This record gives sequence, structure tokens and C-alpha cells, in this order.
Amino acid sequence: MSEKYYITTAIDYVNGNPHLGHAYEKVLTDVLARYHRRHGEQVFFLTGLDEHGIKVQQSAQKQGRDPQEFCDAMAANFENLYRKLNVSFDDFVRTTQPRHKIVVQRILQKLHDAGEIYKGVYQGFYSPRQEQFLTEKDRGADGKFPEIFGEVIELKEDVYYFKLAKHQEWLVEHLKKNPDWIFPNFRTKEVLGALENPIPDLCISRPKARLSWGIPLPFDGEQVTYVWFDALINYISVIGYDGAAVSDWWPGINVIGKDILVPAHAIYWPIMLKALNLPLPKMLLVHGWWTQNKEKMSKSTGNSVDPLDLINTYGVDAFRYFVMREMAIGYDADFSSEQFHLRYQSELGNTLGNLVNRAVSMVARYRDGVIPAISESALTASEQGLRNDVISAVKSFCENMDKIQVHIALMELWKGVIRVNQYADENAPWKLAKDPANADRLNVVLEELAAAIYLLAGEIGCVLPETADKILTQLGGLSPLAVSENPQWPQFSANTKVGKAEPLFPRIEITPAE
Ligand code: ME8
Ligand code: MG
Repeated sequence: MSEKYYITTAIDYVNGNPHLGHAYEKVLTDVLARYHRRHGEQVFFLTGLDEHGIKVQQSAQKQGRDPQEFCDAMAANFENLYRKLNVSFDDFVRTTQPRHKIVVQRILQKLHDAGEIYKGVYQGFYSPRQEQFLTEKDRGADGKFPEIFGEVIELKEDVYYFKLAKHQEWLVEHLKKNPDWIFPNFRTKEVLGALENPIPDLCISRPKARLSWGIPLPFDGEQVTYVWFDALINYISVIGYDGAAVSDWWPGINVIGKDILVPAHAIYWPIMLKALNLPLPKMLLVHGWWTQNKEKMSKSTGNSVDPLDLINTYGVDAFRYFVMREMAIGYDADFSSEQFHLRYQSELGNTLGNLVNRAVSMVARYRDGVIPAISESALTASEQGLRNDVISAVKSFCENMDKIQVHIALMELWKGVIRVNQYADENAPWKLAKDPANADRLNVVLEELAAAIYLLAGEIGCVLPETADKILTQLGGLSPLAVSENPQWPQFSANTKVGKAEPLFPRIEITPAE
């Protein structure tokens, strides 16, 4: 039985349309899912939406709409974008779905019965924008709550608490013993820092009077569930939790942005699982922020880039390539449309696109479209060098993907693409074609170009699935090469006829606005 690989994204709030940051996270998770599928694992990829809570309730109210109807409309925007981006999710969860709500209530009841949830009073400051209760520590140097919290209000109300505090020591131990549980591991320090002082129990309900848009507590109809407690459960509700055990997809990898690591994913979530006697996630994979002019892109502030604009101009794969290549996982990246344009033109157009176009056109022009058959004895040092370098590039791509260094993996793979271009330039088939005495040599070069592209296309498909399909079509309707620990140089069956050469990344004559 092959290994199971369960990977999830954060589920987005539907209070505004998705921006580049949301799209990045889904593409990143998709690239990992595709890579692991391709490499023989059984993959389950879950993404979806976080539809409850005050933010969503308020956004619906502002538009004078019923919250469910509002969510349905917003959900379509998210799902359409992710489908358009070729995000190959296996399931799309919406926290308003009965299948999810049932599990949340099951878990609440179980924890209540076990004495892990108790009734109390809450008094303090609250940020509706962040859906978060604030403490004195959240105040800035000037004594005020920072701008990111929006308008802060004071509250006193009956609520239920989940016992977090008693698990604090256990959690600290876990983090110290498993420094790689959080990736990149430098963020473990942040979590340990947050755990230096005693943590309070977590308030997990809200009076219905103030917030109606949530899952009712099964043991108190006057209260609804706090949105984070509800949302985190999506990671196990969809794959099946019967009240005692979760399906064997769990534990999985949770991909999230750095803003939701502490406290939600690194404190609440592991303690919820501990209280339920369930294993912790295999890993929290934490990416950084896309910024614009160094400010976090965000739905609430409006300084965001709409992925649809980029896709409409440059195509889906250009978007996927750019966000994967530009951002080092875990760190922030500032979005620049010039940089996007530049990578499109040079790395996609001039490097990959041009290579495929040259190779396919030359096979068409010089050999009636048939990829020449060659014998091993015709190979020279030039081909041996090419084969070694391209195979190394593919291996290095895989090594870096295994280490979740997608941007480096792509850089390594592109070294392969650049190397093939270099081989073409050095052997200049367009010159060989001028003299029939070079016919055998031309056969070799054309075949090697096609084979190198075929080999590279396999891994390119993890990041640029549409482009990889186009390459296979242009090479003659080939099926993707199987993967192997030791990639072999591909062979073509006799009479493989190339398709029509069509530019993969056509020139786009626009001066990006700044
Ligand atoms: O936090 N750059 O939803 P959300 C990169 N519903 N990633 C970004 C980003 C940016 N500028 N802005 C947001 C929530 N994200 C909760 C999650 S999970 C059980 C519940 C990322 O719509 C963010 O870090 O505010 C998060 O991982 C995801 O987008 C959804 O953010
Ligand atoms: Mg957010």
C-alpha cells in the first residue's frame, strides 16, 4: 500500500474576495499535492471556506443580505478562482455544511461530557475585526490597541471555556521535543515565546444575542461556537470523525500563513486534539505574507492584488510559476508587477517557451514532424554531458521538493531548461540542416532536444500542469513519463510525430502600471 499524504490549506474567510495571498497558499498546497501524487503517494487535498463568525455576519449585514445567501455567493468566487488556477483539491469544505457542523457539535458534546468545557463569565476587550479577545499585552507602546484590531469594544458576558491552561506544559514539551513540527522551524521559537507566560483557558462560545451566525452549542442553545474552534475542526470533520477516532488520512499537514500560527494553529489546535486523544498534525507548514509596498495584502484594507487580473493577462501557469518561484516559503515577499513581467518574459517565454518552440518547429521542418530514431553509438560527449546535467536538474528538483523548498526546486529545474537551450546553441541544428552530410548528427540533436524536454516536462507538470500538457501534446501526444529515483533518459516509440508548434508563453506587449 502506498503512503497516505493528507494536506490541507487554511480555510478562507468569505468576508471579501480572495486576493493573491489566498491564491498563493492554494497553489503552494496544490504543487505539493501534485508532486506527491506524481511520486506515488495516495493524496487527499482539502481546501475550503470559513463561513461563520462576526466578520462574515457583518459583511453580509452591510450588504443587507442573509448570511447564508451571502456565503453562497462569495463561495462561488473562491471556488471558481481555485478551479481556474487548476488547484486539484479532492474536497472543498464549507463550514456551513451539515457534514461539518455535525462533527463540531459532536466534539463539543464530547469535551463537555469529559469536563474539558465549563461555563464562566467573560469580561474584556474584543476586536470584531480580528475575531479576537485582547489583553493588555496587545496594546501598543502608546497604550492604544494597534490599527490591525480595528475598533475595539469592551464586553461582559456568559460564555463557555475550553481548558487550555492545563495542557500548557505538555505543549511546551512537545514543541521542544519536535523542533521540526513547525516548518520552517525558526517559527517554533515564536510559539515558545508565546508560551513563556501562563495561557488562559479559551473562550469558545458567544451569546447568540451578539453573534447569531455560528454553530449552536449542543448543550446550550443560547450560545454559538467561537469561529476558530469551529474552523479548525474542518481538518478532521471532512475526512470523518465518529466521536472516537478519525479516518486514517489523519494526521495530515496543515498549510497556513504566519498570522494564524499563534495562537490558533500552534496552541488551540494541538490542545484540542490532545483533549480528544487524537494525533497532532504531521506538520504545520507556515508561509509568509505577500505584501505590497511592504504592507500585508489584506481583504479588509484593500491593498491587494487580484489574481484574476494577472491570470487574464498572462495565463494561469504564469501566475503559478511566479508565486512559487518568487517566494521563499516562510518568508515575506513584496509583489511587483515589473518582476512578474520580467519572469514571464525571461524564464517562461525566452527560456522554456522558446526551447519547446524551437525543438518542435525544427522536427517539423527538418524531419517532417517525426522525432528521429537514433542509436546509442551515435552519442557524443556533448549528449553525455547534456543527459547528465538534465537528469541532475530533475533529481535536484525532487530533492528540494522533498525539503519543501519549492522556489529552489524550480530554480534547479530551470537550470535543466537552460542547459538544454545551451545544448541547442552549441550544436546549432539549424546549421547542421544546411548540409545533408550532417543528417545523422542532426537526427541525434533533434532527438536529444525532444527527449530532454520530455524528461523535464514531467516535473514541470507539478507546478505548471497546463504547460506540461501542452508540451506533451506538442511532442506528439505523449503520456507523462513515470517517475523513478533514478530518472532514465526517455526513449520515443518509432514514428512519434510532433504536434503543432505553438508558443507556450506568447509575448505580451504591456508596460505594467506602477
Ligand atoms: O485566517 N499573504 O482566513 P483568511 C499570504 N479563516 N497569505 C495570506 C495573506 C497574505 N497577504 N493574507 C491572508 C483565516 N493569507 C481563517 C483561517 S483555518 C482553520 C481558518 C492567508 O481569509 C492567511 O495566512 O484571513 C491564511 O492562511 C489564509 O490566507 C486565509 O486567511
Ligand atoms: Mg486574515
